[in-house]
Amino acid sequence: MKGVILHGGAGTRLRPLTFSGPKQLIPVANKPISQYVLEDLRSIGVIDVAIVLGETFPELVQQYYGDGSRFRVRISYVHQGKPLGIAHAIYLCRDIVQDDSFIVYLGDNLLQKGVKKYFEKFLVNDYDCMILLKEVDDPSRFGVAEFDDKGSLVKLVEKPKVPPSRFALAGVYFFKPVVFEIIKGLKPSWRGELEITDAIQTMLEKGYKVGYSFVDGWWLDTGKKDDILYANLLILDEFGVREIKGELIDSKAEGRVSVGEGSKIINSNIRGPAAIGSNCIIQDSFIGPYTSIGDNARVFNSSIECSIVLEGACIDHVDRLEESLVGRNARIVKNRASNAVRLHIGDYSEIEL
Ligand code: G1P
Repeated sequence: MKGVILHGGAGTRLRPLTFSGPKQLIPVANKPISQYVLEDLRSIGVIDVAIVLGETFPELVQQYYGDGSRFRVRISYVHQGKPLGIAHAIYLCRDIVQDDSFIVYLGDNLLQKGVKKYFEKFLVNDYDCMILLKEVDDPSRFGVAEFDDKGSLVKLVEKPKVPPSRFALAGVYFFKPVVFEIIKGLKPSWRGELEITDAIQTMLEKGYKVGYSFVDGWWLDTGKKDDILYANLLILDEFGVREIKGELIDSKAEGRVSVGEGSKIINSNIRGPAAIGSNCIIQDSFIGPYTSIGDNARVFNSSIECSIVLEGACIDHVDRLEESLVGRNARIVKNRASNAVRLHIGDYSEIEL
């Protein structure tokens, strides 16, 4: 079994963070989203992984994952360049996958319980393709499944205006190599992409064995700021641990709080689940539940809740920061001399006062 992780896409809805890196490398609970994907694949024994790179900082992805040995996998990189669709990205991996079955995992998707159960179902039933479905409130944003009266899967449509059901296709797919032949015959969709949904639809029409499973637990597609914050909340909730490596000085750390090496928590209160990286200084502050603070960040006289503060950021006299995503080396400092707001912010930033 091989793995294919899709790491492309412009990430426009996550600007300005995606001006300095691909969306899949944004840390959630202090770990890039695509690393959860890689670790999920590794946990079911997938060692050979192809990462398909897009146009947004592909070199940063290669720098972070390297040859994969740090993650106990072997990684090959495939350059897709322009975003010509998921099916196009998969097709580029045919020489790496060869005659093996493989799992395609969108690098910005997260599954609470991982892929193990579905992987076993795919193998046991000897499917040509297996998809994962999840009931959602807004199916029009996704690929959507249609069932007949007997409950059999009959059709898949990409982003339909009138969805035939509330079951969206999650971004995890299992295939036998026969899918490459099918993709070869595809035509681009209205959005100019080779759609994986169309490939699977063709497999259904041609009588290939297409199975499906309903996702058990949460599934997240982290395309927007609020999705990232929600992922942070769910991941800290599910996987947050208590592990204090740094120093607590006149401070309290309640519940599942992790504090990395070299960090100093001074006269502060950290309430879990929360993750503080390495070499941070948190002083005279409150860090509330569902907050992740990246390495080398500094927080003074502030209160932060349900937020992600990335590496090297500085927050000083801010009471209180909530549901916020603060980029690397950003500074939020209260102007104590006047009530005026003075800004120096990047393109597409958002400030809610
Ligand atoms: C893609 C697929 C869609 C699927 C979704 C899951 O959408 O085309 O069928 O439901 O991923 O995240 P896109 O990210 O291209 O909008």
